[in-house]
This record gives sequence, structure tokens and C-alpha cells, in this order.
Amino acid sequence: MLAFRSAPSRPPGSLALLLTFVVLIGLAPAVVAQDATPTGEATPVAVGVGQEPFGTVDGEEVTRYTLTNGSGMSVAILTYGGIIQSIMVPSRDGELANVTLGFDSFDGYAAGHPYFGNITGRYANRIAKGTFELEGETYELAINNEPNTLHGGEKGFDKYVWDAAVLDDGIGVRLSRTSPNGEEGYPGTLEVEVTYTLTDANELQIDYLATTDAPTVVNLTNHAYFNLAGEGNGSILDHELQLMAGNYTPVDETLIPTGEIAAVSGTPMDFTEPHAIGERIRDDFGQLVIGRGYDHNYVLDREDDDTLQLAARVVEPTSGRVLEVLSTEPGIQLYSGNFLDGSVIGASGRMYRQGDGFALETQHFPDSPNQPDFPTTVLNPGEEFRSTTVYAFSTD
Ligand code: GLA
Repeated sequence: MLAFRSAPSRPPGSLALLLTFVVLIGLAPAVVAQDATPTGEATPVAVGVGQEPFGTVDGEEVTRYTLTNGSGMSVAILTYGGIIQSIMVPSRDGELANVTLGFDSFDGYAAGHPYFGNITGRYANRIAKGTFELEGETYELAINNEPNTLHGGEKGFDKYVWDAAVLDDGIGVRLSRTSPNGEEGYPGTLEVEVTYTLTDANELQIDYLATTDAPTVVNLTNHAYFNLAGEGNGSILDHELQLMAGNYTPVDETLIPTGEIAAVSGTPMDFTEPHAIGERIRDDFGQLVIGRGYDHNYVLDREDDDTLQLAARVVEPTSGRVLEVLSTEPGIQLYSGNFLDGSVIGASGRMYRQGDGFALETQHFPDSPNQPDFPTTVLNPGEEFRSTTVYAFSTD
């Protein structure tokens, strides 16, 4: 059974309160949403935060929090890796589907997976040859993606059970953990908080905060894969993508940036106007051949450094579902699910093959610790790493 904590009260007479009542009292019997219960049972919509056990790992309990708003959307978050396990959003006809790749039980996550929906850290994406220098010291990291380190190393932030607290204000949950000095080779004790909030405007907001007691490097993101037709419904190659980025960082054969900031104009990397993801993905273009598709960091056309700005817009033509990604970060990794190879069966019981999901990972650029011309990822004691990303859902 889900134990629901109700949404915070709002000022009497507010439109939001009225709408909440309309949904709860007027529509509730009709709006029976399928949430992501392991059994797939239909559960009545209740606005607020639900909580239930979801498995154990190394003797630690994993909890699933389900955030449900008054606008027909719900999001399930696991304390294991901060994984976004499901995102239920309506189509233009009001049909709910889970638009993120993942599993319906903990076993799938425990068996290993390609970073479905998790917090990625301490350093998202790659650091060349697993080494970097900081203040005259050389640090050695695990080589878990030959010949580089990827997504925080052997046991990154995705493989820990995080502490959790339900928010008092808003529909959300705050996850936190302390990453000890030396964890996966990184210097400094890092205190990390990641807050997931669901708004009534069908936005999932993720706020990251980190502090350190010694100089270190930090790059945090979420690695959700999306399929706006619903996970398990096949390829995302027909999704139309627009990226607010006139430049990207080309990579070498090991997917490490060469250091160049290249214009997308005149190449199949150009998404400044909407294009189907698959339209040019098989072009004989060196960068696409190296990546087996798109696996590239785009340099966002930002007006300034720290405001939330639109980074990407994706439309799935059949369902009409739209995803907009807003971020405070300077970059976004477009990954077209190139390494999905049919080896895992997803929540709907269907196998995920190449191109069955895409990720848009808001981030600092890969390998920044070794690239002096990229925006810095160094965090010093007394400073705060803050970052916000919003996944906003609507229909066309
Ligand atoms: C990121 C990387 C990809 C791949 C995926 C996870 O998107 O850039 O190369 O490693 O994560 O499979």
C-alpha cells in the first residue's frame, strides 16, 4: 500500500487549491492512473508524495517515492542512485504512459544497467585515461570504460542508497549523501543534495547542491533515457529534436573531447532547427561513426552563466508528447541510446534495442579537468556547486 503524504496547503481561494479539489473530488473516480507498481495494478491518483519499500541492496532498504501532481503526472524516484524509475505523462489524448526507460522491480537495477535515470557523479561522462591534476597533485581514477573513466568510476553515485526526506513545501523529495575523501580516487569530502520536485505545470525539477572540504572536481547530472511514445514502444528516431546549441565538442575515437569547439552548421550535428533524431544519424560523418550515432556534448547558446534557460525541445509526433529541457548548465550530452543492445528487458516486458531511448544529460563538458579552455569543474572549500535542470512535459 502506498502511504500518501498530502500536498502542502495553499492560500484559501487560490486557483491551484480549487483545481486540486476539482481533481480530487470531481474527477478522481474517472482519473484512475496506472502507476509504476511492480504488479502494474491501477492505483487511484492522490496528489502528494507516496512512499513504499522497493527492495534491498547489501542489506540496505531501498525506498520508492512517488510524486503525484494535480495535473495528471506522476514520477517515481528510488533512493538507490536517485533513479527516476518512471515518469507517467499524458499524451494529447490524455493517455498516460511511462516515458522513461527502466525496470518495474529492483532486480533489474541490481543486475546492472546502462545508467537508467540515475544521478551521475562525482564526475558525469568521461575523464581521459582516468587521471587529472589539481593543485599540483595527480589523481588516478578507475578505468571503467577503456581507456577512460566514465560516470564516476566503478561505484559512482548511481550505486549508493541515498538518505531521503520528503519536502515540506511542494511535491518533492530531497536525497543526500556524503561522498568520502578518496571515494573512487576523487579528493575532498563531498556533501551532496539532489532535490526532485514535481510542479502542477508537469515539470520535474532537479536541484543539485554540493560542497567540499578540499579542492575537487564535480559534474553532476541525471542520466534518464526518454521515449515519449512510452518506454518499450520502439525507436526514438522519429522524435523531433531541437537543441539551443550552435556548437559542440567533437571527440576522438575514445569519446574524449579533442578540445575544439566546433560549429554544428552544415553538418548532421545541427539541431538548431527541429530535425528527427534519425534523419541524418546514418550519415557518413566522422563524429557519428565514432559515436555509433549521437553521443556528443553540445555547447548551449547561453545568454549568461547562471539562469535557467531552454536547452532542448523534443516532440513525439504520434502521441503529441513534448519534452522541454531547461538548465543552468553550459552543456548537454545528446546520447541516442547507441549502446542499447537488447540485453535488458524493460518495465513493459519488452527488450531495449539500439535507439529505443535518448538521453539529454545537462552537464559541464566531458574531461574538463584536463581541458583548461572548458568552463571549470573545480569546486573549492567555501564554494557551493549549484545546478538546476527542469524536464517540462506538455503536448503539441
Ligand atoms: C553517456 C555516454 C555514453 C554512454 C552512456 C551510458 O551518455 O556519453 O557514451 O556511456 O552514457 O551507456
